[in-house]
Amino acid sequence: MMLLHVTDVDEASWAESFRKTLAPYPVVRRGDDFDPADVRYIFVWKPQPDAFDGLTGLEVILSRGAGVDALMQHPKLPDVPIVRFVDEDLSQRMSDYVVAHVTMHHRQYTRFHRDQQARRWSQYYPPAASETTVGIMGMGVLGQDAVRRLKPLGFSLTSWSRTPKAVEGVECFAGEEGFEPFLNGTDILVNLLPLTPDTTGILNTETFSKLRRSSFEGGPVIINAARGGHQREADIVKALNDGTLGAASLDVFEVEPLPPSSPFWEIENCYITPHIAAISDEKSGVRYFTQVVEDHRAGRPLINVVDRDRGY
Ligand code: NDP
Ligand code: OXD
Repeated sequence: MMLLHVTDVDEASWAESFRKTLAPYPVVRRGDDFDPADVRYIFVWKPQPDAFDGLTGLEVILSRGAGVDALMQHPKLPDVPIVRFVDEDLSQRMSDYVVAHVTMHHRQYTRFHRDQQARRWSQYYPPAASETTVGIMGMGVLGQDAVRRLKPLGFSLTSWSRTPKAVEGVECFAGEEGFEPFLNGTDILVNLLPLTPDTTGILNTETFSKLRRSSFEGGPVIINAARGGHQREADIVKALNDGTLGAASLDVFEVEPLPPSSPFWEIENCYITPHIAAISDEKSGVRYFTQVVEDHRAGRPLINVVDRDRGY
């Protein structure tokens, strides 16, 4: 039996789709009449504290999200494999967001928008893409896809990951010792890291102060499409106001929904979106997790299993 436990999304619609694709395998929702001990798979997004209570026969946790930080912090997380969402459609959507914001900043949108508001005709020629370095933090599924789509646009690309990588056309840095040299050459910093104890708060004053300041008009830019827990929000506000950062594109926040009292709403060079950079689309998600369940039931190995020691 598969149990759905997803919040903030249309659970009824996902359940109806899974019932069609997995039939005659039973699919239930919270509130239905079923014995929790019969649940073998739980499909989760933002699980409540009691999400796993009574699931004594659970075999696999299916994470609707690519990011599993909320799951990893669950106080009663069962010791069974977690399969996360990895999908071409999700990667494409994330790269759409990254490309849109990188190109917007590269073409100095903030500057020209200010000029327009001031009715000021001020000719300034943005650097060529090849003169602008985009540094990607996280070279996993999403980081690699972003690189693949930014490369044909001609940007100079660098990356930073936990373990060393070799990617054609990208200068790759890794580990603690690689962080500072990576930042020192970066004009536009894109965060696609998972949220773990090691990466929490990584977007902070010290990090911003190491970004390259010599080449990018208006100051370096950050783009965070990963998790709000990566950012020290007071540091970002300060950096945007004092010019340490030229602009920021933020899709995620420490507290979501972003409260009306947040100072971000009023900062002109801060571009806010409400955690929509990429979505686990229902059609692709149902197709992916149906295959995962069918493979598992047929004795075939699970894919995209989270490494609990690494936390992602
Ligand atoms: P992956 O697990 O495929 O990749 C993670 C990358 O981060 C890897 O390259 C890994 O290094 C690197 N990394 C992890 N820890 C560290 C560290 N301490 N120092 C340096 N590098 C590190 O994740 P995805 O690419 O699939 O997803 C990334 C994140 O994007 C998700 O965790 C999620 O939070 C976020 N996301 C946000 C969405 C949104 O709508 N805003 C939508 C989907 C995802 P290594 O390769 O060496 O292991
Ligand atoms: C995810 C997300 O992790 O949508 O998939 O944030």
